[in-house]
Amino acid sequence: MSDFKTQYDAWQAKAEKATSRFPERKEEFTTSSDNPVKRLYTPQDVQGDYMEKQGFPGEFPFTRGVQSTMYRSRFWTMRQYSGFGSAEETNQRFKYLLENGQTGLSTAFDLPTQIGYDSDDMMAKGEVGKVGVAISSLADMERLLDGIALDKVSTSMTINAPASVLLAMYIAVAEKQGISADKISGTIQNDILKEYVARGTYIYPPAASMRLITDIFEYCSEHVPNWNTISISGYHIREAGSTAVQEVAFTLSNAIAYVDAAVKKGLDVDKFAPRLSFFFNAHNNFLEEIAKFRAARRMWAHIMKERFGAKDAKSLQLRFHTQTGGSTLTAQQPDNNIVRVTLQALAAVMGGTQSLHTNSKDEALALPTEESARIALRTQQIIAYESGVADTVDPLAGSYYVEALTDQIERDALAYIAKIDEMGGAVKAIEQGYMQREIQNAAYQTQMGIEDGSEVVVGVNKFRIENEPKPELMKINPELERTQSARLGELRQSRDNDAVTAALDALRQAASGTDNLMPHIVHAVKVYATLGEICNVMRDVFGEYQPAQW
Ligand code: 3HC
Repeated sequence: MSDFKTQYDAWQAKAEKATSRFPERKEEFTTSSDNPVKRLYTPQDVQGDYMEKQGFPGEFPFTRGVQSTMYRSRFWTMRQYSGFGSAEETNQRFKYLLENGQTGLSTAFDLPTQIGYDSDDMMAKGEVGKVGVAISSLADMERLLDGIALDKVSTSMTINAPASVLLAMYIAVAEKQGISADKISGTIQNDILKEYVARGTYIYPPAASMRLITDIFEYCSEHVPNWNTISISGYHIREAGSTAVQEVAFTLSNAIAYVDAAVKKGLDVDKFAPRLSFFFNAHNNFLEEIAKFRAARRMWAHIMKERFGAKDAKSLQLRFHTQTGGSTLTAQQPDNNIVRVTLQALAAVMGGTQSLHTNSKDEALALPTEESARIALRTQQIIAYESGVADTVDPLAGSYYVEALTDQIERDALAYIAKIDEMGGAVKAIEQGYMQREIQNAAYQTQMGIEDGSEVVVGVNKFRIENEPKPELMKINPELERTQSARLGELRQSRDNDAVTAALDALRQAASGTDNLMPHIVHAVKVYATLGEICNVMRDVFGEYQPAQW
């Protein structure tokens, strides 16, 4: 038996003895993905060749990061998700965050906007401006971005089914500022598959949705080259209760479906793939999250190289945004959330994120107040400027546990992807409810753990405080629905309605054919056709998605 093995076994025996006085806290320690966590990891747990498994940052397989110098040259983008009420109110919050050192914008839209309804639509009742900003027309978009130079900041828009319309509005506002589309940068989420799986803001059936998504890939590769055309999201899959492994596996399966659809449309993979981006959750298990990000980068590099034959290094890079885990925030003892968010943000940074949103301490109760949004941003700034973790690339590489867990997550996620491949790919798996059932089962296990106390949530099922004081919360102006409706009435009076009708007819015609729809949507937006009018034309032609009964 090897000398090391002999010494290891002797150590284990000693450790066992020590447990007689202090038994270990649990029978078995596991990660969120139910992977056993050993008492100790040693060089025996890290197999394989360094250049094959880790390599250098900025080079294939990108395990250690997508840039050679990472944060030594440029911190991740501090990009706080924000939006509520009217365009003016959100414009104020954008400016407040930029004044406080935020380095990118991130737009939260209200549900009517996310599902393609104008603020005065019957379906919008009670939701206008509630979970995000109300945007029904180019006029609202002009108010949202007033005084913000769109060639100086990158903007993310969390918009999926109507992503084409909001992107068209953004392009139109930039042009009104004298900035051409090839000078703007940002991201639209534009990821409909995870909406079917976990979030629900879908409109059209899969085929029509994939057409719109790949139309955007094609249009942007020609006209908006610095725009990230999709943010393939694991965030909401994790928020729905998935494990870390499922988050990676289902996100990359969805990504494979998007690349497949674009290649089948005849697009050259190296023309659109460099502008695919990703979006992950930073959850509680610190080391598992870091391993998760490293595994995801290595997997994507291999998938793009070996499955799609991508040649451009930028096509192989998994660039991602991270949001700290909203579902881990507690309503009880909200200040505890500052600590949770700090640990989760640290995991995202040590996992090599390109952009980061840190949740505010009060977000389990309401949208963040200005003060809680500032603390969340300061959390990122303290990690960046004071912790030292940004001063070297991928600092946890070589950790026996992190490398072993990176390998484990990669193996388990690849097994899921192979299963989904057998089912015919992500769209088929979703139609059969496979991903949804897997997530539900994982969510159930977690909830059982919280209920029986084996999964401790500080302040909730342990260390509770009775009758704690209620914090000051953000309120949305109840008048907004009325003012938004009045504004839309004025807009429909003042615009050139012949031009609007002609633009919508042209869109309808194109939607019934195979043309790229983006030029028609951009034109309709510019003559002030509203979001709802544009989306309704496509509802008429494509119909609406009926969730699979599984
Ligand atoms: N060396 C050299 N170049 C570097 C560098 C380095 N060390 N670091 C960065 N750069 C370059 C990059 O290559 C890039 O240049 P390029 O555009 O020419 O390639 C530029 O500097 C900007 O860097 P990044 O692209 O890394 O950073 P961005 O912030 O611009 O982009 C992203 C990050 C992940 C690619 C992008 O897609 C993004 O910003 N995504 C954000 C998505 C988001 O905010 N989503 C929020 C969703 S909220 C939600 O859904 C939750 C809700 O539902 C609850």
